[in-house]
Amino acid sequence: MNSKIGRRGFLQKSGVAAVGLSVLPKAAFGSQPARAANRAPGDKLRIVGVGVGGRGFAVLKNLESQEIVGLCDVDHRYAKSCFDYFPKAKKYWDWRKMFDEMGDQFDAVMVATADHTHAIIAATAITMGKHVYVEKPLTHTVYESRLLTKLAEKHQVATQMGNQGASEEGVSLVKEWIQNGEIGEVTRVEAFTDRPIWPQGLNTPTQGQWVPDYLNWDLFVGPAKMRPFNEIYTPWNFRGWWDYGTGALGDMACHILHPVFKGLNLGYPTKVQGSSTLLLNDSAPVAQKVQLTFPKRAKAGKVNMPEVDVHWYDGGLQPLKPDNWPAGKDMNVQGGGVLFYGTKDILHVGCYGREPWLLSGRKPNAPKTERRVSLSHEMDWVRACKETPANRVQPTSAFHEAGPFNEMVVMGVLAVRLQSLNKELHWDGVNMRFTNINDDETIRTVVADGFEIKDGHPTFAKTWTDPVKAKDFAAELINHTYRNGWKLPEMPK
Ligand SMILES: NC(=O)c1ccc[n+]([C@@H]2O[C@H](COP(=O)([O-])OP(=O)(O)OC[C@H]3O[C@@H](n4cnc5c(N)ncnc54)[C@H](O)[C@@H]3O)[C@@H](O)[C@H]2O)c1
Repeated sequence: MNSKIGRRGFLQKSGVAAVGLSVLPKAAFGSQPARAANRAPGDKLRIVGVGVGGRGFAVLKNLESQEIVGLCDVDHRYAKSCFDYFPKAKKYWDWRKMFDEMGDQFDAVMVATADHTHAIIAATAITMGKHVYVEKPLTHTVYESRLLTKLAEKHQVATQMGNQGASEEGVSLVKEWIQNGEIGEVTRVEAFTDRPIWPQGLNTPTQGQWVPDYLNWDLFVGPAKMRPFNEIYTPWNFRGWWDYGTGALGDMACHILHPVFKGLNLGYPTKVQGSSTLLLNDSAPVAQKVQLTFPKRAKAGKVNMPEVDVHWYDGGLQPLKPDNWPAGKDMNVQGGGVLFYGTKDILHVGCYGREPWLLSGRKPNAPKTERRVSLSHEMDWVRACKETPANRVQPTSAFHEAGPFNEMVVMGVLAVRLQSLNKELHWDGVNMRFTNINDDETIRTVVADGFEIKDGHPTFAKTWTDPVKAKDFAAELINHTYRNGWKLPEMPK
């Protein structure tokens, strides 16, 4: 780790933003209509990327037939390959500055930052009338998902969450098979991922490190609470830290549960519960188990949609195999798998909706009711950006669906983080609140797990937070209080 400290590093170390602005871009305050309208149909879409060192670079390469006009990253060393690949694009540290300076020079934004900043960047862009492609998970909280759903509807921009399986054959097949009655009524689903493959279950570093010259830590932290920099947080490992990521479930469920949400026409869950290996205050647990219950829905196609329990496992745990599971066959296909238990058959499908098959061996031949995407997931979004709101064919993971779906995903995080209330939690989806957390309940979590051999004796010592009001704790997880200077646009009525 480079411990050299430059001016920026020093300023950040002392808690002062060297480059950061403390306000949102001017343009974000006005509500403007989608701008693509004044561009000719044959024109290239002018795209800016925020968070381009990892997945963002791959997404931008899939968009390179368009014009990549601006790039923003808080880590100019990690983003260098992308910066070099698009030499004509203007380079920025702070997306607010980019939006301010280039507001009239781009049509669309690609967001692939750490999870906790997806919402503020995308919401600001939408209020400026920009189309948005946002990596999964769409947001860090339920409230942020609801906000993006409503803003996208209000501003009539083209939107896409980056769960690319949505544009593949498998997700469509699963929906068509289920809704053609091929497996009967589904009351239980079991799903899992083999993640995390990044560190989780860690004690919070007790010592900060000097912020290297190539990183703007203040801008990385953004709306979250400030903490001393440590290289364990970024790049990539943010996934395992609650302030920035959503653990294994948040990382993978947008891929793995998408055929479940779509195939079963799910909406808001009504009951949730979770458990895990040691739950720490800052770092997501090594392994988790979650159950989300969805109420009965309207009949879809040929099949009734009764109440259904969706079970989730991660950290190496898997559901038990059904009786007729072929011995020796791995349930894990490219990062996870799903078992749909129907009254007539069991359907297994891999991550991204890949390789669906029925355990009976029967090959369904259901009518193809879903639109197939011949372009890539990214280019299907570009197509939609160039259509007018009135004639737009929605991309396969537009926010009217991705928003509620992501609420389901981050509800899994809530279930795990509220597990010590020791009950099934009842969720009022419309009003975004738990209805059975009482005023007098408190909750505390483990700050650090201390284990030492002292004089030859194993010694256990956990440090706990003080008890806090459980209702307030839950409310903060549902809708974060942003750090001073960072603000989401208002929720449309
Ligand atoms: N769809 C997929 O298959 C897929 C695959 C990988 C990652 N992802 C998603 O993409 C997102 C990024 O993941 P990753 O693996 O690329 O992580 P990463 O840490 O490798 O890359 C994130 C990049 O964003 C930058 N960044 C962070 N905060 C920023 C900010 N506020 N402004 C500008 N730049 C910022 C980082 O410096 C880094 O370059 C995550 O939400 C992740 O879930 C999706």
